[in-house]
Amino acid sequence: MLQSEIINSWQQKVDQALDHWLPAENIQPQHLHEAMRYSVLGDGKRIRPILVYATGQALEVPVDSLNGPACAVELIHAYSLIHDDLPAMDDDDLRRGRLTCHKAFDEATAILAGDALQALAFHVLAHDPGIQTSTENRLKMIEVLALSSGSRGMVGGQAIDLASVGKDLTLPELENMHIHKTGALIRASVKLGALACPEISDQQIEKLDQYAKCIGLAFQVWDDVLDIEGDTDVIGKPQGSDMERDKPTYPNLLGLDGAKQTAMELHGQAIENLQDFGEKADTLRWIADYIVSRNK
Ligand code: IPE
Ligand code: IPE
Ligand code: MG
Ligand code: MG
Ligand code: MG
Repeated sequence: MLQSEIINSWQQKVDQALDHWLPAENIQPQHLHEAMRYSVLGDGKRIRPILVYATGQALEVPVDSLNGPACAVELIHAYSLIHDDLPAMDDDDLRRGRLTCHKAFDEATAILAGDALQALAFHVLAHDPGIQTSTENRLKMIEVLALSSGSRGMVGGQAIDLASVGKDLTLPELENMHIHKTGALIRASVKLGALACPEISDQQIEKLDQYAKCIGLAFQVWDDVLDIEGDTDVIGKPQGSDMERDKPTYPNLLGLDGAKQTAMELHGQAIENLQDFGEKADTLRWIADYIVSRNK
């Protein structure tokens, strides 16, 4: 199969799993369930689920063991986007090429939809019968997702982001913010894929984690680049939002070329960590390339 066909098939798999776990729109409270489905099933890239599958592929994990963790991390991500767009945060009106959740529904519904998606993510990890790893590893998955989502992970990064509006951060401060707000969930995606393999070694986990740290930071650096260079119609969210809200970003601090160069250096470091995995890690390599060349 071509790389693009593999990625396509994983996108379909996770979309099916998401559709399965999300309550139907005709179940009460209907408005809330509609908002949850609207936000999750929109036109996202599904990069975190793809990372779960690609990590599993590098470790020869059966694909059906990966649907649950892929679904869980995308649910957390979708919740983070709904809340990120709220008036109290980035106050954006466009997401994934359509109105943000609080615009299409209302603010209270958007807050609740985010809350409910977060809870659903942990429900999926705890219950999905397809996850074939040890009970110990399933518990570790729950722990990894909890830590990476909370105040020491994504939410902590979002708090730093909000506290940094209008400030000049140093490069280490900016890196710390990006590692948390975006890197943490990307790192968790790779860890979840790794934990789906019952016999993974600590050394393999360490290498994959180093890869994930690098691409996680590179992902947000490139997101900052797209905020300047991207086309609203293509990125599906308002170009220039960071500038408008006076957010500290990599291009702000290093210039566009400097930011791109940083992304390329992180890409190189990520790839180095995949050496021991041979051809089985080709999709992980493809993802690293994609992250620093994408136009959306
Ligand atoms: C956007 O994430 C928010 C960031 C963490 C930069 P994505 O770029 O993965 O958004 P979708 O899921 O494709 O919409
Ligand atoms: C968002 O960063 C990170 C999370 C949602 C956790 P941004 O605010 O840069 O994401 P976009 O650009 O709105 O997608
Ligand atoms: Mg934000
Ligand atoms: Mg935002
Ligand atoms: Mg952004």
